[in-house]
Amino acid sequence: MKKLFILGNWKSNKTLSEAKSWLADVDRTFPALPPHVTVIVCPNFLALPLFAEKTHGFSVGAQDISPYETGAYTGEIAADMAKSLVSHVMIGHSERRKYFGETDETVAEKTKRAIAAGIIPIVCVSAIDQVQALAVLAPEFSGKGIFLYEPLFAIGSGKSDSPENADRVAGDIAALFPTVPIMYGGSVTAENVTGFINATHLSGVGAGGASLTPHTFLALITSVIA
Ligand code: PGA
Repeated sequence: MKKLFILGNWKSNKTLSEAKSWLADVDRTFPALPPHVTVIVCPNFLALPLFAEKTHGFSVGAQDISPYETGAYTGEIAADMAKSLVSHVMIGHSERRKYFGETDETVAEKTKRAIAAGIIPIVCVSAIDQVQALAVLAPEFSGKGIFLYEPLFAIGSGKSDSPENADRVAGDIAALFPTVPIMYGGSVTAENVTGFINATHLSGVGAGGASLTPHTFLALITSVIA
């Protein structure tokens, strides 16, 4: 059975008390996962220590990481600081590229930092040139990293891409990085997830909106493992 990943990206949402209540609800009802399924929750940085208080049925990731080492970089969280709290990190989400000016070079730097710290990088891409830009890191990234393909029109719009289109792009990505798992993201829900996980070149999904309430997130996971 192919490996499947389900990623929940909270983005810039949830106070500490909202995070606590989400976690309590999800922990209470989290299903036993089959061995081929990995769930990765990416809360905001402030909530991360809450997740370290006990073990969960899912992995924990950060939404971003500094392109620099620890030191005089005000406001940044370096990979070495995050590594005791997370196993994965999202890098280069299209919102980081759009609102925070992240370039392919920044994404490559962050990816290098994550790999050096032993954190699995989940590199977000919305076009094939962003994949090509990572070719310099191919030997390190292959075997360690994951791609999350998210077409811009589908993010937060309620209009997901079709599984056929997403699979076609994933096929192009796979031609460049044959051993790297590729997930699809963009308006994924419990209702439409099956088409994506069944697509030949896809190995799971990333969800923003659907990860925000325990009910919709657990419904998504249940659809995948059903
Ligand atoms: P969405 O976000 O599921 O709300 O469309 C996906 C993402 O940006 O990771």
